[in-house]
Amino acid sequence: MTDPLPSGPGNLALSRKEDFKTFAQAPRRSRPELLTRAQKEALSDDARAEYDQDLRHWHANLGPIRTPQLAELHEDLWDIVDSNLQDGDRVKGAVAVDAFPGLGKTTSVLAFAGEYHRREIAEKGELTAAGHERWPVCRVGLTGNTGMKDLNRAILEFFGHPGRSRGTTAQFGKRALDCVLSCETRLLILDDLHFLKWRQSSGVEVSNHLKWIANEFPVTLLMVGVGLADKGLFSEGEAGGEAALAQTGRRTTRLGMRPFAIDTETGRREWRKMLLALEQRVVLADKYTGMLADDLSDYLFARSTGHIGSLMTLIARGCQRAVRTGEERLSRESLDRVKNDEAAEQARRELEAAMERGRLTSRPGQAA
Ligand SMILES: Nc1ncnc2c1ncn2[C@@H]1O[C@H](COP(=O)(O)OP(=O)(O)OP(=O)(O)O)[C@@H](O)[C@H]1O
Ligand SMILES: [Mg+2]
Repeated sequence: MTDPLPSGPGNLALSRKEDFKTFAQAPRRSRPELLTRAQKEALSDDARAEYDQDLRHWHANLGPIRTPQLAELHEDLWDIVDSNLQDGDRVKGAVAVDAFPGLGKTTSVLAFAGEYHRREIAEKGELTAAGHERWPVCRVGLTGNTGMKDLNRAILEFFGHPGRSRGTTAQFGKRALDCVLSCETRLLILDDLHFLKWRQSSGVEVSNHLKWIANEFPVTLLMVGVGLADKGLFSEGEAGGEAALAQTGRRTTRLGMRPFAIDTETGRREWRKMLLALEQRVVLADKYTGMLADDLSDYLFARSTGHIGSLMTLIARGCQRAVRTGEERLSRESLDRVKNDEAAEQARRELEAAMERGRLTSRPGQAA
């Protein structure tokens, strides 16, 4: 298959199966060669423009890095998905990845989904025994104000089902089930589930719908979202709690994702290891070993508070700027000029104060 997109999977919303396949099967982006300043200057104008463009794409897509958080999540997911291989009449366990924004839920889950897709296709082939295309993964991203009907329709959209424009919630649901059955889908991912309309009825309707999916669809249901516990997804038998919710709770394994933390030596080592991995990927003529992991460790922690999303934004923007201005390295001064998300900016001040007083460090072997 030829890739119609010169920049790789950059502009895929992953809401259709073909996009998902492109994402899952795309070769890893290859890192542009690291040129010295002299080599860069020796390039012709055209070659230089092309190189700069490669760098922009590269720095905007640094990842995913195999962080401990990502690795742990993948281990748990493999355990659950592979133990759901029981016969069709047994209800399969569902998973909820529930954590704050910007901790890498979507990134990690998609990386897993891609691996799962490749493994299933490699083992079982592109077509099912009945001759249908095999789609091991269906992935739906919810947007604001999604109701049950929209959810069902989104599944049909993913499969490109011709009956996706007209019908009732129940009809859409039935067609979605047909797709999942004929394509032998085994993993159904509902991302940003918190966008689902939970209504005043304390989520019973939602819960029933998810239960219906879990019961009828021969899939592992993988829900991703923020504050799913608060929405009552797992609540069970509390005062006034609904028995229907308890059913979902019992069958759902909740997985979290944590930010990096520097209050233990293990935590500081993880932070450093991640910075070293990131450093490897940065393509700047004047970068040096320890640029991030030694010289900017505390600074980067303060600015991201250990949230990978904030860190990656900062590094990506910093690299764009360093290439554009010809500074060709990352430093405190250059990064100070880069804006980051508001949540990270607010948390930064307190952390920096503690670090300046020498009470806190992000670097292993240096605890005060
Ligand atoms: N393992 C990783 N390696 C590199 N970058 C990562 C990694 N995990 C997350 N990121 C980056 O962090 C940013 C936020 O990640 P992501 O969108 O996966 O978070 P999320 O938990 O799904 O957030 P939200 O709740 O807002 O949907 C992304 O831009 C992504 O590129
Ligand atoms: Mg997300």
